[in-house]
Amino acid sequence: MVANLIHSQEALHGEFGGVVPELAARDHLEKLPGLVDGVLKKAGQEPDGIDRIGVTRGPGLVGCLLIGVGLARGLGAAWEKPVVGVNHLWGHVYAALLGRPDLSPPLLALVVSGAHTDLVWMLEHGRFEVLGRTRDDAAGEAFDKAARMLGLGYPGGPALDRLARGGDARRQALPKPALPGLEFSFSGLKTALLYRLRDLGGEVTEQDRADLAAAFEESVVGALMEKLDQALDRRPATEVVVCGGVAANTLLRRRAGEVVGARARLTIPPLELCTDNGAMIAAAATYAPVNDLTVDPGLGW
Ligand code: KG4
Ligand code: ZN
Repeated sequence: MVANLIHSQEALHGEFGGVVPELAARDHLEKLPGLVDGVLKKAGQEPDGIDRIGVTRGPGLVGCLLIGVGLARGLGAAWEKPVVGVNHLWGHVYAALLGRPDLSPPLLALVVSGAHTDLVWMLEHGRFEVLGRTRDDAAGEAFDKAARMLGLGYPGGPALDRLARGGDARRQALPKPALPGLEFSFSGLKTALLYRLRDLGGEVTEQDRADLAAAFEESVVGALMEKLDQALDRRPATEVVVCGGVAANTLLRRRAGEVVGARARLTIPPLELCTDNGAMIAAAATYAPVNDLTVDPGLGW
């Protein structure tokens, strides 16, 4: 990786407790051109030195996607460079290649983000087979909702991660979602936390909150690891990737190492490349064909 710049919208959305699509799009429009300039300066590059421009075409918020693709098309025309539309989910997997250029498919990937919880088999560059996914909430969404119930700000995942460090999961144990096959479900766990908080009434101490955060994290990570373990049994892989925003979670990073063990080589991108970033889109664009730039908010694998 040569250079990567991130403009965080955490402060922008934090006030509202979640992403406000129109504000997100307006902020993209304002900040993207400056980021492009900044990253070129940081890399010490002129537009001439670029091979191609990668841009997310989905899945995601339609307003933000349209602004990104519009800017990329404009830059492509001005600089006479090809523009490659990239699948955001592929981007998360390709983030793993930034630190390990030798990493290549076939590989097993667990992609855990704010909107996805997918176990995928990557057959070759640009070809993915979904082995299992969530039936309801994504792991990141579950963390964010649990964090809100525990009175933590947005984004909830990192705050819950920090709170859980001072807690003991056994003191407030919550059920671990159990589904057949390689599917996930986190909405029942969310309800279990809601009821537990209700049962505790007004008596929730700081220690209880930390214990509840640890218990919630234990159940989510436990379920993720159980399915990763089963997937590895079914599809013996030599390479395993755990990626997406939730792969920044402290407990998940530790447990993934234990579960994969000596069975395969595990790659988890560094923290700043787990949560959304431009470098992962550039990495995916390196391997993707120069394909269509159709914006698709619901794009799948
Ligand atoms: O991949 P990502 O940045 O955006 C999407 O594509 O959705 O993932 C964001 C999700 C959020 O739900 C956020 O709370 C979660 O990743 N997240 C975490 C941690 N850091 C980010 N969840 C648990 N522990 C963390 N340390
Ligand atoms: Zn993402």
